[in-house]
Amino acid sequence: MTAGESHGPALVGILTGLPAGLRLDREAIDIDLARRREGYGRSPRQQLEADQVDVLAGLRHGVTLGTPLALVIRNRDHANWEWGMSPWHPTGEASGKGTSPITLPRPGHADLAGALKFAHDDVRNALERASARQTAMHVAAGSVAKGLLAELGVTVSGRVVEIGGADDDAGWRDATDAARTERDTLGGVVEVVAEGAPPGLGSYAEKSDRLDARLAAALMGIQAVKGVEIGDGFALARTRGSEAHDEIEPDRRRATNRAGGLEAGVTNGEPVVARAAMKPLPTLMRPLRSVDLETGEPGEALVERSDVQAVEALAVVAEAAVAWELARAAREKFGGDALVDFVGAHAAYLERIAWRTP
Ligand SMILES: Cc1cc2nc3c(=O)[nH]c(=O)nc-3n(C[C@H](O)[C@H](O)[C@H](O)COP(=O)(O)O)c2cc1C
Repeated sequence: MTAGESHGPALVGILTGLPAGLRLDREAIDIDLARRREGYGRSPRQQLEADQVDVLAGLRHGVTLGTPLALVIRNRDHANWEWGMSPWHPTGEASGKGTSPITLPRPGHADLAGALKFAHDDVRNALERASARQTAMHVAAGSVAKGLLAELGVTVSGRVVEIGGADDDAGWRDATDAARTERDTLGGVVEVVAEGAPPGLGSYAEKSDRLDARLAAALMGIQAVKGVEIGDGFALARTRGSEAHDEIEPDRRRATNRAGGLEAGVTNGEPVVARAAMKPLPTLMRPLRSVDLETGEPGEALVERSDVQAVEALAVVAEAAVAWELARAAREKFGGDALVDFVGAHAAYLERIAWRTP
């Protein structure tokens, strides 16, 4: 569970279900937070927010206690919003940012639907939480999950596949430069691959247990993600069965991995492969048409400092989402209040399913 507004004092995360005895790598978490801020299409906000995670509970001398782990990432930018985003009624004269209400919602954001749903007169009350700033805490949580998965020899990594339709580094830069010049934005596609997951994570017992469904929900839960594929995904719909599946070799491995490591919602021992498609970012420096919610007059949507594209950042956030779901599935399969039990159950399971020729 997380909490925190984009320009409020801090982001907060409470992580439950971690076994006791896991040594957290503070530097690794901060490196992942730094990776999330990088990318060619990002705004100056990203340099402003040199994120660092603080731990308030659940950790002693760097090792988890098996109790809820409470994390905090302070929003350094809050210094400019102290009056505007004060949690309590602000004292003194209005100063800094966020002092006047926003009434021109941006298409493609939570602005209009959020203001109507929660009866907000100031659209800022909707957009602050809907903002992708909260993905910083998700990345921190994903980093912890990667630490747990590493104990089982599982690695998770995200990468960019496409930005603005271009599929190589030079093309990404050209497309981003062109969009920036035209005060427009871009989307793209990222891929996350998890290697080393044992067969048997997730289940087909109930649809909510299916790991493919859980990964899809976790990825779709990220701001601006509009499509998710597992393995060859949509392309499979255009092939024949003889070309769509992964035949089982004598060593039980597969020569192909079109299923993306998941059959019937259960890992099959091949790498888990998931892709997410990101829409072009909805805040344009050349604003889209909107309506003033107070006057009913047509107008231009709010322009707030914004990225041209954030596909490189999405790769890091998507990696964290997949790591978190895989770690949850591993914890369900192997249990363990203590890390030693968790790792021991995994080892015993691998021993049970070890291939023995008849
Ligand atoms: C890492 C990341 C960074 C983002 N940065 C921006 C941004 O700078 N400007 C913007 O308009 N949208 C940005 N978004 C997308 C919006 O947060 C998102 O489109 C919006 O909250 C509406 O949600 P939806 O697109 O899922 O419907 C970003 C998304 C992610 C994942």
